[in-house]
Amino acid sequence: MTQSTATAFWPFALLLLVCAASQARADCLVTIAQGAARGSVMTSLHGRDFCSYRGIPFAEPPVGELRFRAPVPAGAWEGELNATVDGSQCPQGYVSFYTDNEDCLYLNVYTPQPTAGELLPVMVFIFGGSFTSGDNKAGNYGPHYLLDKDIVLVTINYRLSVLGFLSTGDDAAPGNFGLKDQAEALRWVQKNIAAFGGDASKVTIFGESAGGMSVHFHVLSPLSKGLFHAAIAESGSALMPLFFRTEGELSKAQRMAQAVGCPTDNSEELVACLRTRDVKTILTNQPSDVITAISLCLMQYDIVWRPVSEVKTAANPEPFLTTQPKDIIRSGDFNRVPFVLGTNSEEGSLFLFPFVATDKGIDYFNSFFEDMGRITLFLNESVPEDRISETWRKVTDFYLGNDSVISPANVHNIINAATDRFMQHNIQKSVELHLQSGHDSVYLYNLGYRGKFSLLPKARYGNTRYDLGVLHADELEFILSSGFTTDRWEPEHPDLETVDAFVTLWTNIATHGNPTPDTETPPQGVVWPTAGANKDAVTYYVLDHAPPPAEPIYGVRPLRISVVPDKFKDRIDFWDSLPLKENQ
Ligand SMILES: *[C@@H]1O[C@H](CO)[C@@H](O)[C@H](O)[C@H]1NC(C)=O
Ligand SMILES: *[C@@H]1O[C@H](CO)[C@@H](O)[C@H](O)[C@H]1NC(C)=O
Ligand SMILES: *[C@@H]1O[C@H](CO)[C@@H](O)[C@H](O)[C@H]1NC(C)=O
Repeated sequence: MTQSTATAFWPFALLLLVCAASQARADCLVTIAQGAARGSVMTSLHGRDFCSYRGIPFAEPPVGELRFRAPVPAGAWEGELNATVDGSQCPQGYVSFYTDNEDCLYLNVYTPQPTAGELLPVMVFIFGGSFTSGDNKAGNYGPHYLLDKDIVLVTINYRLSVLGFLSTGDDAAPGNFGLKDQAEALRWVQKNIAAFGGDASKVTIFGESAGGMSVHFHVLSPLSKGLFHAAIAESGSALMPLFFRTEGELSKAQRMAQAVGCPTDNSEELVACLRTRDVKTILTNQPSDVITAISLCLMQYDIVWRPVSEVKTAANPEPFLTTQPKDIIRSGDFNRVPFVLGTNSEEGSLFLFPFVATDKGIDYFNSFFEDMGRITLFLNESVPEDRISETWRKVTDFYLGNDSVISPANVHNIINAATDRFMQHNIQKSVELHLQSGHDSVYLYNLGYRGKFSLLPKARYGNTRYDLGVLHADELEFILSSGFTTDRWEPEHPDLETVDAFVTLWTNIATHGNPTPDTETPPQGVVWPTAGANKDAVTYYVLDHAPPPAEPIYGVRPLRISVVPDKFKDRIDFWDSLPLKENQ
């Protein structure tokens, strides 16, 4: 073959390769030890075809004797698995709103690499929902953005609410079943992901809210050691108040048991009896504080079913966590992987939305102003009873400049207070503790870019309309597709650059263990330093809107990326100065 015919031949050879690959894609058939699974073809945001395998069981249905126990790996299925539909969501809900299918331990795999070839980095997503709700369905947490890159995406289910987190504080029901399900899914990935073109030695876990807390818990758990190689916690950390307990869970298990006519004296008998009750009976008879917390629309925070510390015993040889997250970080004995944490600039908007988004809500807040610290910022969780009023006064002095009413003019200040109480303070403290224990590869971001699909539209008070900023969960619209359609954005919409930035940063972590490695051009040319790069300040990577003179396009000013030292210094110092038990 002459040089020129060789050159002419190349495009043809490439075409053949491309055809062969799409042939295999049209098949979307994979075989693992459990059996063969037939998936379907999906198309990414920028038009790439990939295979989707949904509803793959990774653990046996946790029913009957398996309820309230650590998961058991799933066995083989018969025939060819129809992997074109999502698995059922895990039981969740209360009163008359609930779903009750316990056969729910399924995961989805999305891969651009159907044939044997170079193995690709793997990203495993853990959804959020206060450990009480949510699922991994493709319509909620879809692959269409990340699958523009060469990675394999896995989204997993785990047990929730009472079925995932009931604990008697002893061997009868040690708790953390939902977190153990997540770890089981990660073990499934280790065993099986190569068949989907994924590299089991390059697994990144990422999650949002309770999923972000879960990610941090895996960083700290000995049970998850070796199952992942990088971690991204979006708007959630293991140090979040309310979401972890070392004691006191038995009384909730007892109230649950009592409500469905089960004995409460002996925890073995209590749990054995609860295993005989149907899910509907359990969900609809949960202790009233669970229902109060939810039905009053987050007015009284008390997360009832949550992660706990366990005791290691012969009957519970593999506890998920056995002590306070803070103590584990201080001990230095955790999974030292590259670790990204971050927040959105108005996280608090979602938590306060009943009070900040309508006239009635603002009026209600003002009429109960004195109690609002306890209710909306759950100060009673962390401050001794006799210091709650004084602490709330300090909060309102600091954020509202001594005002005792909120209005559209200062509503963002009270939103900032909630942002800091729920997220900013504990997430920055997490970062500081990791840095102090010599964990260098920690990265911190803050998202202040409000996209077209923000969770809440503009709010209204009288004739004033104002937006609620970048809410809790608002980063997800740039990372995982929901209700995906190809015409979601106008072709020149600035949100598309934000999608590209997140997709690039997140997949860089998965591929290189670094969001902006030397080998790649970083988004907008801005390198993301580690949070401890500057010894005197915690370093934030900030994604927000370019200020004027940048012109809005479709009503949105373009993305701006910058590096900001100690972005929240005054606010963090303020929370550090309060008599919170978290500060001890
Ligand atoms: C797979 O399940 C879906 C949904 O139930 C159904 O529409 C489809 O026909 C099934 N495919 C096969 C090959 O059975
Ligand atoms: C805080 O107050 C809420 C609502 O009144 C209550 O449910 C919760 O148990 C209290 N928490 C503590 C630690 O006292
Ligand atoms: C708010 O009150 C505190 C103490 O009561 C005072 O020190 C501070 O100057 C006041 N701040 C404003 C903005 O008025």
